[in-house]
Amino acid sequence: MPRRKKVVLVTGASGEMGHGLIQRLSQRTHFDILALDIKSLDERLAGICHDQIVGDVLDPRLLERLVSEFEIHAVFHLAALLSTRSEFTPETAHEVNVRGTLNLLKLAVEQSRWHGRQVLFLFPSSIAVYGLPDFETKSSAGAVKEDEFNVPTTMYGCNKLYAEHLGRYYAEHYRQLAVEQKKGIDFRCLRFPGIISAFTVPHGGTSDYGPEMLHAAAQGEAYDCFVRPDARIPFMAMPDAIEALLRLMEAPADHLTRHVYNVTSFSPTAQDFADRVRTAFAGAHISFVPDAKRQAIIDTWPAELDDSAARRDWGFSPSLDFDGSFDDYLVPNIRERYGLKR
Ligand code: SER
Repeated sequence: MPRRKKVVLVTGASGEMGHGLIQRLSQRTHFDILALDIKSLDERLAGICHDQIVGDVLDPRLLERLVSEFEIHAVFHLAALLSTRSEFTPETAHEVNVRGTLNLLKLAVEQSRWHGRQVLFLFPSSIAVYGLPDFETKSSAGAVKEDEFNVPTTMYGCNKLYAEHLGRYYAEHYRQLAVEQKKGIDFRCLRFPGIISAFTVPHGGTSDYGPEMLHAAAQGEAYDCFVRPDARIPFMAMPDAIEALLRLMEAPADHLTRHVYNVTSFSPTAQDFADRVRTAFAGAHISFVPDAKRQAIIDTWPAELDDSAARRDWGFSPSLDFDGSFDDYLVPNIRERYGLKR
């Protein structure tokens, strides 16, 4: 039988998280990296990946071709449409975020059966799976646990929550009526807060006001923040988000008590964010011009997340708090990126 190459598959490899993940993943896995995205990778990332495929997670033929050539041992399924963008094209978002995920889960469970080992499936979910009913509840809820307020109001939040359930199904109950019971996949999922990177700016998310105001200030551009100064949701810096994914990948299975874990680092208001950006970039011109509808989405997301399960089970511990993120990671790297003096 022809030997297929053993790989870890990264979908959405050209996206924000893919950029952050691929280099660090290459240092932490003995498998080659196979990248899949609708856009081709930039040269630096392409050089790290063993192979890249430009294509769509919705294309079943492409996925079939892929498994004929590669033996997939782990999947990082990052491809998704974010929350704001999804509200403009909810049905397309459902296709990408749900059917795309289903295609990858099916591929993973079939691969598990081919090579007799459970495929590890890492899935980034989001604070968008929460839906707090009103501002008073948000103000009094404190740090929200994984099983509370799972009533999302956005298509993206509904898609992510359902995809989490699909992951659990493919891990524990897949074809449960079959005569021969076999193990499914090893599904592990993180619910991320807003993520801020020094190197990329997100597109189509509702937490984008944080990174947008920072990157605008570094480029000397004025920024109209689309939420109120008192808007508050959790954030974390990209290196901690990537480290969390890799730590969860490496965690011994018998340490895990759940499939889905909250992770978080700090919860500034938009005003705190703007003040911090102004300290870093004197003269930054930030105005608050709230968009009532995008603000309403933020009002349904928790101000704080309870990540005690992740800390207990696999040692999650972000290294960058609010000040550390700015001082040690964001500001120095962003200054360099935009050619500013240190
Ligand atoms: N950052 C995402 C968004 O705003 C939330 O996970 O859509």
